[in-house]
Amino acid sequence: MSDYLFMLENHLSVAQNRVVAEVQAVATEGNVSLFLAGGAMRDMLGGFQVRDLDFAVEGNATRMAKTLAVRSGARIVSTDEARRAVELVFPGGVTAQIALARQEKYARAGAKPQVTPGTIQEDLRCRDFTVNAIALALNRAARGLLIDPMNGLADLNRHELRALQSTSLYDDPRRLLRLLRLKIRLGYTVEERTQSQYLAAREAQMERFVSRRALCEELKQIAEEPNPGEVVRVLQEEGLLALFSSALAAGKLNLAGLAKLERARRLLPPDAGYLDLNWAPFFLALTEKLSPKERAALLQATEMRKTEVSPWKNLPPRTKKLENTVKAARLKKPSQVYGVLSKAAGNEILYLLYQSTMRLVHDRIKNYLQKYLALAQEITDAEVQAAGATPGTPRFAKLKEEMIVARVDGRTKKPPPPPEPPPPLPGARRGRPPRSLTM
Ligand code: CTP
Repeated sequence: MSDYLFMLENHLSVAQNRVVAEVQAVATEGNVSLFLAGGAMRDMLGGFQVRDLDFAVEGNATRMAKTLAVRSGARIVSTDEARRAVELVFPGGVTAQIALARQEKYARAGAKPQVTPGTIQEDLRCRDFTVNAIALALNRAARGLLIDPMNGLADLNRHELRALQSTSLYDDPRRLLRLLRLKIRLGYTVEERTQSQYLAAREAQMERFVSRRALCEELKQIAEEPNPGEVVRVLQEEGLLALFSSALAAGKLNLAGLAKLERARRLLPPDAGYLDLNWAPFFLALTEKLSPKERAALLQATEMRKTEVSPWKNLPPRTKKLENTVKAARLKKPSQVYGVLSKAAGNEILYLLYQSTMRLVHDRIKNYLQKYLALAQEITDAEVQAAGATPGTPRFAKLKEEMIVARVDGRTKKPPPPPEPPPPLPGARRGRPPRSLTM
């Protein structure tokens, strides 16, 4: 196994490794060359947690995504026809993108690129920053080969963001926003010429050419950042926030609210598998000070779709309902609190933590997140099986639920680990008891 494959396997979660294996199997079957690229490679080589798996294929990405949807139960979240890229969510919450390896040609700055299929080398050369232009071959012939035509590895080591071309930020001005966002997230510096390009592009007001949909996509990406408040603050400082909303830029930015939301989010265990956690609470906190008219203007400026609006429109009433259930006096036992909150969506819990003023509600949620969830996770399927139920049967599910309730309420304890074998006595030979003890 090459060093990079070994590194990848060690760096990814169990669920992500499973997805890599599934995508690889489908690519091999379809005789398609497959690469891991973009942010996934940057994060692995830079020592960051890999958030999304970005695959590039020299072949039909859409067909592969459809096969994966059938084969692995992955859900296709969006398809970008122009970039021939498909976003998928796999069971277990692993997110991935499968994109056609392509060449992009820009007729003029900020124009929609003309996309044609290309090799992985050509694809990498069209990307934004060198640290995002590294790929790892996953196809049988070259498995484990690192492809790094722009020497992104050196920039990763230098902690530097370097644009690939002298026109990168002009070709696709959304990269102006990406540059700031990545700089904040990674804590990297911007290489000198890239900084000059940024300043020149700003002087030429290239940000005017960021499409409305690109603004919406960027806003959704900001919501997923570990520190979205800082990203929004820097956009404000750089005079870019007005692209989204002139009201936000003119003093209605709710930075204190965003900081409060980040504190609440840190209470949620990252491995709890919450899906669609961030977008709706982020948007609500961000726009809290806006009037309905100003919010409507933001929706228009970002061409926000119904599927993007309804999550945050529905969240406040759903959260109110949850608050009423969580504060109810009838919840006497920990298992009852567990029962209510284990059925709630992550974004409801997060938003409730953000906006509820009731101490009782906060205490119950904190107990759930910090104690009950961990206790429930102690009940393994093996334990339920050992108690006499067959996996996959209704009895198994019921017994597991009962065992969880008993554990959360403190009626059972985690069995102690088996005792360690005693250390051998000094001078004793391996595998044989010392003489003096056998006599
Ligand atoms: N990319 C680009 N120009 C853009 C958007 C994306 O060159 N305007 C390239 C970059 O190589 C990027 C890859 O496409 O790494 C995937 O894009 P995306 O998933 O949006 O971003 P990531 O860099 O993967 O970052 P994140 O960790 O936020 O997903």
